[in-house]
Amino acid sequence: MHDINDRKWWKEAVVYQIYPRSFKDSNADGIGDLKGIIEKLDYLKSLEVDVIWLNPIFKSPNDDNGYDISDYRAIMEEFGTMDDFDALLEGIHERGLKVILDLVVNHSSDEHEWFRESRKSRDNPYRDFYHWWPAEKGKPPKRWSYFDLEGNAWQYDEQTDAYYLHYFSVKQPDLKWENPELRRAIYDMMHFWFQKGIDGFRMDVIPFISKDPEYPELPEEYEGDFIAYYANGPRLHEYLQEMNREVLSKYDVMTVGEAPGVKIENALDFVDEHRNELNMFFHFDLLALDRAPGKVFQMREDNWKLTEFKEIFTRWDEVFSEKGWGSLFLNNHDFPRSVSRWGNDSPEHWYHSATMLQTFLLSMRGTPYFYQGEEIGMTNARFDSIEDYRDINTLTAYQIAAHNCDDLEAFIENEKEASRDNVRTPMQWNAQKHAGFTSGEPWIRVNQNYLQGINVQSQEKDSHSVLNYFRSMVKLRKNNPVLTYGSYRLLDPDNEEIYAYTRTLGDEKILVLLSFFEKSSTIDLSKELSFTRGDLLISNDEAKKQIKAPVFVLSPYQAVIYRLYR
Ligand code: NOJ
Repeated sequence: MHDINDRKWWKEAVVYQIYPRSFKDSNADGIGDLKGIIEKLDYLKSLEVDVIWLNPIFKSPNDDNGYDISDYRAIMEEFGTMDDFDALLEGIHERGLKVILDLVVNHSSDEHEWFRESRKSRDNPYRDFYHWWPAEKGKPPKRWSYFDLEGNAWQYDEQTDAYYLHYFSVKQPDLKWENPELRRAIYDMMHFWFQKGIDGFRMDVIPFISKDPEYPELPEEYEGDFIAYYANGPRLHEYLQEMNREVLSKYDVMTVGEAPGVKIENALDFVDEHRNELNMFFHFDLLALDRAPGKVFQMREDNWKLTEFKEIFTRWDEVFSEKGWGSLFLNNHDFPRSVSRWGNDSPEHWYHSATMLQTFLLSMRGTPYFYQGEEIGMTNARFDSIEDYRDINTLTAYQIAAHNCDDLEAFIENEKEASRDNVRTPMQWNAQKHAGFTSGEPWIRVNQNYLQGINVQSQEKDSHSVLNYFRSMVKLRKNNPVLTYGSYRLLDPDNEEIYAYTRTLGDEKILVLLSFFEKSSTIDLSKELSFTRGDLLISNDEAKKQIKAPVFVLSPYQAVIYRLYR
């Protein structure tokens, strides 16, 4: 049971994700960097967040913006030096904040020393650090790849007449965890960073690390779903337990796995405390909600429903109600802006829906993760032209679409909602050129709505801004442990306009009402809820200070929280 007696810092933390490339540029090369983050540490502190997650900062040729690492113990040149990192770490800790890094160990870059060696000859000592299929055995059984023009995860390499495996781009060969030497090298590297003092890792596609080295045909039970197959390798939990034993258990750190393909039935295998694997993971159920079945980057044709949204969060709350712990997020560097996707970013509804979604994340059970710019309500970039896109995923998909003579206008319309570049545009700091992100030319276009008040500086000055609402809501969560540890109960599940729930801890009960609707709407909870009085804790709109009856009228995208008394 979760209770206040089982407190953990990472359960109480609010996490803020930084995509360093787009956060703040300090040297005018148009690319964000570590010194830029250092400049903004006081701002981060002022948000009252606790943990900073940095997307990959390691040496990389940037085929996939740092998710292709060529040296795990060096800093990407564009981002700075190891001295900059040490200064950043010190600055973070001095302010009482913590930092987690991205552990990308399903694959490395093809420019990593290990791979350079591995591809030289079949008897190279590093050969077995990667997955190879000798060509004399014929073509290897099909494996699907995310960023390959032919969707083929096997790349033929002439030098040794063999294919290597790459679930992502050809420049991201998969590491062979079946080899104990590789595992040792990874654990050593993790120790290196922990000894420097970092506070944890977000683990990139961690369920994919175990592979069957016989590379059989995709078993029928997976019905063509390669992602689910990748997430269920035979020795996955053995590796995670070993990693925990060899590394994680020796430090007071947090871990959160990125877990595409992991189904709710297996959730506790990763995070049940007694299994000693991870603390949390990001599931993908919400992210699939507005996508075509089985298509990660293609929007579905009809609209998603609020009842489906509630069902996902309710199901995932339930699975961790006794054991394990959940993570909560509405967007990240791979998934479009929360206000554009789950709210309504039209000028009329932008403020209310951005703050309503913040209220949601900060009043649910689980650790909330915010992505840079979410605190000021940044929106999807929605680039019209392929020239503006930078992401390997969009660019590859475009080439495929062009090759197939698909409707390219329709393609761009889809990318305007689905592309990862929607969230990768520069952080909007002020109303000056390039939103104050850089004094050079930004590596990707800035969203022009920084001129319409979506920037930090103008929101700082406005006590009713999205930014200042965010701060109040974080404070409310911090001051009320019921919002962290309390049990969750969904009310009026069939309501398509309002999401209502209670959080309860001991004698304390909190009621949360969130309108996901663009008109005013009414909710009657008298069958499910009784109380003598409710006191208003927060709202993003006019709300009664005190209530006596469980019938409410909410304005469009209104969020309101009451403390209830029996
Ligand atoms: C998941 C990361 O979040 C994404 O950005 C990256 O492209 C893939 N893993 C490959 O590392």
